[in-house]
Amino acid sequence: MKRLPLWFTITGAILMTMMTVNGAATKSGSITKSSFGKTPDGELVDLYLLKNKNGVEVAITTYGGAVVSLKVPDRNGKLGDVVLGYNSLEGYENDKAYLGAIVGRYANRIAHAQFTLDGKTYALAKNNGENSLHGGIKGFNKKVWTAKAIPGKDDQALELSYISKDGEESFPGNLKVTVTYMLMDSNKLRIEYSATTDKKTVVNLTNHSYFNLAGPGSGDILGHVLMIEADKFTPVDSGLILTGELRDVAGTPFDFRQPTAIGARIDANDEQIKLGGGYDHNFVLRRKMSDPISLAARVTEEASGRVMEVWTTEPGVQFYTGNFLDGSVHGKSGVAYEKRSAFCLETQHFPDSPNQPKFPSVVLNPGEQYHTTTIYKFSVRKMKEVIIHKPASQ
Ligand code: GLA
Repeated sequence: MKRLPLWFTITGAILMTMMTVNGAATKSGSITKSSFGKTPDGELVDLYLLKNKNGVEVAITTYGGAVVSLKVPDRNGKLGDVVLGYNSLEGYENDKAYLGAIVGRYANRIAHAQFTLDGKTYALAKNNGENSLHGGIKGFNKKVWTAKAIPGKDDQALELSYISKDGEESFPGNLKVTVTYMLMDSNKLRIEYSATTDKKTVVNLTNHSYFNLAGPGSGDILGHVLMIEADKFTPVDSGLILTGELRDVAGTPFDFRQPTAIGARIDANDEQIKLGGGYDHNFVLRRKMSDPISLAARVTEEASGRVMEVWTTEPGVQFYTGNFLDGSVHGKSGVAYEKRSAFCLETQHFPDSPNQPKFPSVVLNPGEQYHTTTIYKFSVRKMKEVIIHKPASQ
């Protein structure tokens, strides 16, 4: 290595110090990387910590691109972790609940684990009863992604990429996927999903973070108040496969157009609630296609004052109330993840779209660019408010 002149090294050191000092003064964000272990195949896995100027931080592992922790302030400015996750790589390797992970190539279910493109039928693994769920046996949540840290002035980004080979989990086409997490100084976690293919295929990507705005270990999420910008939802059958109907939410426990406690109707005597074991349904977002991005949902947790808004370019959102969590899985700091201790708002195209010609298309052709954006925006409600959550019809 060529040695630098002494004056250059010293000037460099001072400059670095000034930058650090300035950085501290202006509280700029940062990105740090640490090791998260090694897979049994010998692949190295990292953990990236992105911090913004307010101290908000998100930890993301290259294993499954999973959000491991997300610390946001409560109404008193106290940071708290609002997502479920594991302390170790082993937790993610054994995970069956998709905690925090990137889900693909096809998020949610494909009926009978098969679909047809241009007359050719693709048979997928049946990993959920008769159906395919979340990309198959080894979906994108079980892959090690290649990471690139991109520090910025107002945002800290982590670009994750993965190439899903033609035939992987029986899907056609080499799919090049990039998922970029951006932690903004405005306390938004922005996720950009991009993909291209060399053969006609289907794509539906999402993130499967489980949220509890009061912090994991603080009980269930039944008191969280939710608003979803949807006039319709997609009913399911006993295998949680969409029937194809778009049903009005009006007069049903699926009407979240006015802010309503998640628990207010979760045990209602309603066929769809029973089939889902609670909420496990896709909502048809009101989204105006002329808007670049639209509000999908807002969740408020009164005790902490934390508010989370979900914005997306996607037509649907899966609202899932952790009905399959049963306390057998222990996450960070040994906390048992009980049924309904967290909720998911998975932005997406509708489940089983490859078999539902009337739904918005999930087909990606060579030469086309798949690109979607979802933003989780955090803020606080200063004063405690009483929220009315009993719709007249219930
Ligand atoms: C999605 C599905 C649920 C369940 C979870 C993962 O939200 O809709 O039925 O499979 O993923 O446990």
